[in-house]
Amino acid sequence: MTTDSQTEPGTGLQFPTGFLFGAATAAYQVEGAATADGRGPSIWDTFSHTPGRVLGGDSGDVAIEHYTRFREDVALMADLGLQAYRFSISWPRVQPDGRGRLNQAGVDFYSRLIDELLAVGIEPWPTLYHWDLPQPLEDAGGWPVRDTAERFADYAGAITGVLGDRVRQWTTLNEPWCSAFLGYGSGVHAPGRTDPAAAVRAGHHLMLGHGLAANLLRSSGHKVGVTINLYDVVPVSEAETDLDAARRIDGLQNRFFLDPVLRGSYPTDVIEDLAAVTDFSHVRDGDLALISTPLDMLGVNYYSRHVVTGTSGGGDDGHGGSGGASPWPGSEHVGFEKGDLPLTAMGWEIHAEGLTSVLVRLATQYPAVRLYVTENGAAFADVPDADGSVRDPDRISYLDGHLRACQAAIDLGVPLHGYFCWSLFDNFEWSWGYSRRFGLVHVDYETQTRTPKSSAYWYGDLIRGRLAT
Ligand code: NOJ
Repeated sequence: MTTDSQTEPGTGLQFPTGFLFGAATAAYQVEGAATADGRGPSIWDTFSHTPGRVLGGDSGDVAIEHYTRFREDVALMADLGLQAYRFSISWPRVQPDGRGRLNQAGVDFYSRLIDELLAVGIEPWPTLYHWDLPQPLEDAGGWPVRDTAERFADYAGAITGVLGDRVRQWTTLNEPWCSAFLGYGSGVHAPGRTDPAAAVRAGHHLMLGHGLAANLLRSSGHKVGVTINLYDVVPVSEAETDLDAARRIDGLQNRFFLDPVLRGSYPTDVIEDLAAVTDFSHVRDGDLALISTPLDMLGVNYYSRHVVTGTSGGGDDGHGGSGGASPWPGSEHVGFEKGDLPLTAMGWEIHAEGLTSVLVRLATQYPAVRLYVTENGAAFADVPDADGSVRDPDRISYLDGHLRACQAAIDLGVPLHGYFCWSLFDNFEWSWGYSRRFGLVHVDYETQTRTPKSSAYWYGDLIRGRLAT
C-alpha cells in the first residue's frame, strides 16, 4: 500500500474540479426479482441454479432486493454524497427473448431508477451488459456466435431510444474478458463452457457487439464507453520464460481488448500465441473498424496484479476454478504466484501502485481517451459489532491507497476523470455467492437491512472534501 501509516486515510487527497465520484453495482448481483414483471431467464439464472456452480448454492433470485428497494437505496446514496451511480441494465428484464419487443414493465423500472437518481442530483451511469445474457441467446449459440453481437446492438439501440434522454454517458460492456474467458474458457462463470476456441470467438463477438452498438449510439448523439478489466502483469523473474509468460498473459488479459478497441487491430503476438486454438477466421473485414469506433470514455476496472511464471504448476490466477479448465487459451503452461503483499478476502494481492502503472500505460501507449476507474474495491470479512456498526479499516486503507494511485496518475498527466468504488452494497459475488463482501454498505441478507460501514462514511467525507486537509 502507498498509504503512509503516519497519515490519516484521505489526508492530502485532492482531485481536479469536476472529477466524478461514484459507486457501482450490477443488475444480477443486486436486483433479485428474477421472475418479476416479465423478466426472462439469463445465463446466470441457469448457471446459479445448476448444482455445484456457485458456492453454497447461492443465486441472484432475491439478492439484495434492489428492484423493490431502489428508492431507499437511492436515498442512502444521496446521504453518502455520491455524485454518480454505476448500475447495469438487465437485458433479460427489458428484452426477455434477447430479440424483438421490449418488456415495458422492465423498462419502467430503469426509468423510475433514473428519475429517482436525477431527482437527488446523482448522475446515472448505466452499463448495457454486465454478464446476464438472455438464456434464449445462449441456446442459439451465445457469444461465440456472431449473431449475438447483432442482437446486442439491437437491444442497445432500443433501450437507449427509451432511456437516452436522461443519460449522459452509456457503457456498452463490463469486463468482456470475464464474459469470454471465464464464461466459455474456464467455465467458472456462466454459461460454464470450457472451449478455448469458443472463448476467443466470444471475446471477438463481445467487442463486435460493443462496436456495432457504439457506432449506432454515437450516430444518434449518445456518449459511449466500454469497461475493461486491466491488470498490472509482472514476471516473477527476469528469466526469459517468465518474461515470455508475462507477455502472453498481458496479451490475453489486457491487449486482446485494448488493441482492437483503441487501435483497431489484434496484437500480432497474441494471434500467434493462439494459433493452435483458432485461426481467427471468425474476424470479418470491417469488424475492427467498428470495434475501434471512437470512444467518449474508457472504463478501467482494477483490483490487483498478476505475478506470472513460465513454469506451470504455480498457483491459480485468482479467478477461481484452480485445477479446472484454464481461462488462458494457448497458455496452459503458465503459472501464477503471489508476492509478499497483503491479500483481500478474494486472495487478491493489494497492489495500489499497479493502478498507476495501468493508467499511465493507457495514457502513454494508446491513443488519447478520457479515462474513468469504473471499479475498484476489496472484499473483507466484515462483521457487525455488538452495537450493530460495521468497522472496515482495511477497506478504507485499500481505497485510500488506490485513490492515491489515481492522484499519482493524474499528477503524471493521465486524463482520469472519475472513480467508482466497487461496490456500493454487499451483493452476489458470482461463483462465490454471498460469501464475499465488497460493499461500502453492509447488507444483512436475512433482513435486507442496509448498514453503511465506516468506509461508506469515510468515502462520503472524501467526496465532500472534508478529508483533504
Ligand atoms: C468485477 C465485476 O465487474 C463485478 O461484477 C465483480 O463483483 C467485481 N469485479 C469483484 O469481483
